[in-house]
Amino acid sequence: MSLLRRLESTPGRPESEPQAAVAAPPPPAQGTQQAAPPPPPPPPPSARETRGESTRGSKEALKELRGRVQDRLIKELDPKMDVNDHHKMRDTIRKLYDRILEEEGQLLPRGEREMMFESILADIIGMGPIQILLDDDDVTEVMVNGPFKIFVEKKGRLTLADVRFDDNDHVRRIIERIISPLGRRCDESQPLVDARLADGSRVNAIIPPLALDGPTITIRKFPKKRLYIEDLIKFGSVNAEMGEFLRACVISRFNIVVSGGTGSGKTTLLNVLSSFIPEEERIITVEDAAEIQLMQEHWVRLESRKPNIEGKGAITIRDLVMNTLRMRPDRIVIGECRGGEALDMIQAMNTGHDGSLTTVHANTPKDCISRLEVLVMMAGMDLPLSAIRRQIASAVNMIVQQERLRDGSRKVTYVTEVQGMEGETVVLQDIFLYEQTGIDDNGKIIGHHKPTGLRPKQMWRIQDAGIQLAPSVFGAGARGF
Ligand SMILES: Nc1ncnc2c1ncn2[C@@H]1O[C@H](COP(=O)(O)OP(=O)(O)OP(=O)(O)O)[C@@H](O)[C@H]1O
Ligand SMILES: [Mg+2]
Repeated sequence: MSLLRRLESTPGRPESEPQAAVAAPPPPAQGTQQAAPPPPPPPPPSARETRGESTRGSKEALKELRGRVQDRLIKELDPKMDVNDHHKMRDTIRKLYDRILEEEGQLLPRGEREMMFESILADIIGMGPIQILLDDDDVTEVMVNGPFKIFVEKKGRLTLADVRFDDNDHVRRIIERIISPLGRRCDESQPLVDARLADGSRVNAIIPPLALDGPTITIRKFPKKRLYIEDLIKFGSVNAEMGEFLRACVISRFNIVVSGGTGSGKTTLLNVLSSFIPEEERIITVEDAAEIQLMQEHWVRLESRKPNIEGKGAITIRDLVMNTLRMRPDRIVIGECRGGEALDMIQAMNTGHDGSLTTVHANTPKDCISRLEVLVMMAGMDLPLSAIRRQIASAVNMIVQQERLRDGSRKVTYVTEVQGMEGETVVLQDIFLYEQTGIDDNGKIIGHHKPTGLRPKQMWRIQDAGIQLAPSVFGAGARGF
């Protein structure tokens, strides 16, 4: 993306004080020469005046100065510069900034000078005040509820961040910056948009009149380090026996649905389960926003497409799932079933594409079945409920329930086998579950994972795949079927 487009959405003079949040600043760059002569600077205030204001810490004066410096900087920057070359951009802006400040006759304390630099830099090439949150590895989610309330999730807990935008327009410009390179727009006629940052982070933006409290941005940061089963065991999300069991289920081609609430860790778990797929199998992943990361060689990634500005050209998850059937998949992994694609997935699972994996938004394994019924109905085929239920019961073998508990920790709370139908009812049998026993003084939930003592009815699949699971995996003296 050229700087020209970026600058079109860069805020001019801010209407409030500069942001106080800064990353560690680099040493000032040497040499401040710029090829083109700068436009004549506005008459600088007298040194005494300036020094007096800044030492008094006058917010007004700082605000004005920041606005002037940013305006001049934007005018002097070469609009054809590549904003993706962050090092070069930072260097160039640094040099210009130092020179402009000098020409303004400003003597700012070093801390203030660096803060102003970082805040201007974030406005020109970054995400404005939330850039510092995006740069913080401990922050996993950033939620902008209008200009003045920005929440973050850190270590599973939500907190109000110490940064703010200037006003609604400032937030709108940052939204514009995120989506304009994608050829999309977010305005009164299209007030909600899904997008992704260059690093894969997932972004949703929704603006007034739909968002009543101002433009709202939600960013799920793409994890820098992908998680493996060992990490989930270390976090206490599953125990070692559950890990071993789930690995056996994936290898022996169980159809598995990860069920969970929003942000509970479904995609993360789907990633971990997919990592168990044997190397020689051909995997096709289908997602709205590519979040699955696999190590296997034989992996084809498909991503759905939103309609363009004229509302045309959309390719849905459902279209892609149907297409996978013509791509000779050994495994189909669908990021999330949230519509009629559930019918295609269930049919695929029932017609030889076993070993498929997906996630569904539901709060318990039982709800997951009901949710799948509703999703299948959304395909609009007018199938009787009993037929839908029967198809689901024979397609899905295992439901893994993922939850975000009240203390912010994410855990698998049930591993439940779908055993078939009894009359009109789908028979579910828990194999593992999480038992909460209390809450400690810090609000942390105390509990443990335990096997129910029952072996899965489809243990034969695991044995047929040549995998021996010790009886202790299911608890001492586990009963078989
Ligand atoms: N077991 C875990 N322990 C700790 N953090 C986790 C765990 N699983 C996921 N997370 C973190 O929780 C956040 C949400 O995870 P993820 O994207 O997998 O959830 P999701 O259920 O797919 O969300 P959505 O419903 O929005 O798609 C991420 O920041 C992720 O890194
Ligand atoms: Mg997800």
